Amino acid sequence: VTGPGPGAPLGVFDSGLGGLTVVRALLRRPVRGSIVYFGDTARVPYGNKSPATVTRLSLEALRFLEHQGVRALVVACNTASAVAIDALVREASVPVLGVVEAGARSAARATRSGRVGVIGTRATVGSRCYERALARLVPGVEVAAAACPLFVPLVEEGWIDGAVTRAVAEEYLAPVREAGVDTLVLGCTHYPLLRDVIQDVMGEDVTLIDSGDAVAEEVGRVLGESADAGGGETHRFFVSDQVDRFETEMRRFLGEAPGEVALVDQTDVPWYDRPAWRRRQEHGTPGERNDV
Ligand code: DGL
Repeated sequence: VTGPGPGAPLGVFDSGLGGLTVVRALLRRPVRGSIVYFGDTARVPYGNKSPATVTRLSLEALRFLEHQGVRALVVACNTASAVAIDALVREASVPVLGVVEAGARSAARATRSGRVGVIGTRATVGSRCYERALARLVPGVEVAAAACPLFVPLVEEGWIDGAVTRAVAEEYLAPVREAGVDTLVLGCTHYPLLRDVIQDVMGEDVTLIDSGDAVAEEVGRVLGESADAGGGETHRFFVSDQVDRFETEMRRFLGEAPGEVALVDQTDVPWYDRPAWRRRQEHGTPGERNDV
């Protein structure tokens, strides 16, 4: 089987626009070739959804980017990396790199005390993925994790500093600070934009790990590619809803628009007309619970 060649684009997937922090990190490095981005803006947020749903949506994104002929997939979304990485690796025909493993490796290198903090969405923190990854890397590591669900909407509203954001950060971060961590993983696409507030609340001595930056740093190395830094590539961005909003946010996140944004056509057989659902109804099989 011949996969996409070395000149093929790099696929980047996120639940919405937050993955642009990873694109920003990639564009700052000599990463080979162009990027094809998919942001699932019709179905964001993933962070409050069940693992089963996030996995299904992530596999759809994988299929879409495979159709675009990507040579590898960077899972920029921490939530998707946290709960769907095994399914993505299993199903993918190309290498898959997730932010969680990369962020954990970076945190393992940074910590001196072996006490590491992790913040992310409810789904990411609930999955305990960072605990598992860090335990493999740092024997005896102690992890203090906190879900910070209000951070994503604050960033999306552009409230990246100010009294309200600071008060929310104080509340969420208090237990992590009290745990005496020397390193804190920003385990969500949006959190690098709150870096200043988070650093202030945690104190200057705590090293903040940007998991998106960490995965960008690993791309060339893990894919075994030497970066023949081109520049001038055209990148392509696809979203499942609200192209205009994405374009505006892209300028805010990146300071520029490095490529065209297009809408993904979602015309499809509605779920209630799909054969599997119909069969279940006809045979009276109860629906499955998906909150496991
Ligand atoms: N991209 C998600 C993450 O990094 C944050 C937004 C969402 O909940 O979908 O976890």
